Amino acid sequence: MKKTRLTELLGIEYPIIQGGMVWVSNWRLAAAVSNAGGLGQVGSGSMDWDQVRENIRTVRENTNKPWGLNIPMMRPDFEEICKIGLEEGARIFTTSAGNPLKAAPLLKHDDTIIIHVVPSVKGAKKAQEAGFAAIVCEGYEAGGHNGMDETCTISLVPQVVDAVNIPVAAAGGIADGRGIAAALALGADGVQMGTRFVATVECPAHENFKRQVVEASDTGTLITGRKMNMLRSLKNDFTLRMLEAEKGGAGTEELLKIIGDEHNRAELGMVFGEVHEGVLEAGQSAGLVQDIPTVAELFKRLVDEYEKAVAKLR
Ligand SMILES: Cc1cc2nc3c(=O)[nH]c(=O)nc-3n(C[C@H](O)[C@H](O)[C@H](O)COP(=O)(O)O)c2cc1C
Repeated sequence: MKKTRLTELLGIEYPIIQGGMVWVSNWRLAAAVSNAGGLGQVGSGSMDWDQVRENIRTVRENTNKPWGLNIPMMRPDFEEICKIGLEEGARIFTTSAGNPLKAAPLLKHDDTIIIHVVPSVKGAKKAQEAGFAAIVCEGYEAGGHNGMDETCTISLVPQVVDAVNIPVAAAGGIADGRGIAAALALGADGVQMGTRFVATVECPAHENFKRQVVEASDTGTLITGRKMNMLRSLKNDFTLRMLEAEKGGAGTEELLKIIGDEHNRAELGMVFGEVHEGVLEAGQSAGLVQDIPTVAELFKRLVDEYEKAVAKLR
């Protein structure tokens, strides 16, 4: 697979980043991805401070390759997580869902590499100005929280590539080697994938969640929270109920009633495997995911598919 500015910047073999994933990206997945030649990431989104420390210490014990820490900026204790990350020796950070101008001063040092996740050209320019070393440009196909403008990867990536001069990783809808070839053809320096990594042996997601990803079809996901907190997840009883209510014009109060307060719906679905009433965050690429390989097997396949796709174009 092609060496790019991203492989160079991060010191990795393949231009593939494993996106931080709330509840389901711990040290084990991160180490497996880094050992396979990509950039594995500990996703701090759902972790308490001790868990962040523990996961960083353990990922360091399990790989000597580069790895990263993802910090969603919607965390109220965002600054503390940055501090813990630096103290524990994280050197590559991705920040998401927030203002890059707030993140850069906390994380930018001579020995750190900071990357910001954006859903727009405006966000990309802002991150570049703030001093970020690279950008993950995420389209509306992606699993998890999405940009409010609903811009798709195929049109967003080349516009972002044209607007900035730092490396860009494309995210959203990429789950095989053909997608990686397509992203590079659009001018990206690499990709970030989330959904594909959920269905791997090393991912700590509940087996029921992994199986739902494998069984999902091209129309298997939906967006909820357009008025509150946009999220792409698998269709199930809960998310269909939410969508119905939103279509019927339900306000925040009514939607909060449907969500209920007895469970964290994401933990319920992704960690405890309650596939009907929990939230199962996944992207449209779930329809491409047919099995649950080890991360090493997956990387071998991604490289092979990529080479075939490129050869076919020639
Ligand atoms: C289960 C799940 C949880 C996610 N949680 C986060 C998160 O905590 N922080 C973040 O920056 N992105 C999060 N994302 C987005 C991914 O990091 C990645 O950018 C996205 O999945 C790429 O699109 P794809 O799902 O089509 O591969 C999540 C995605 C999934 C599928």
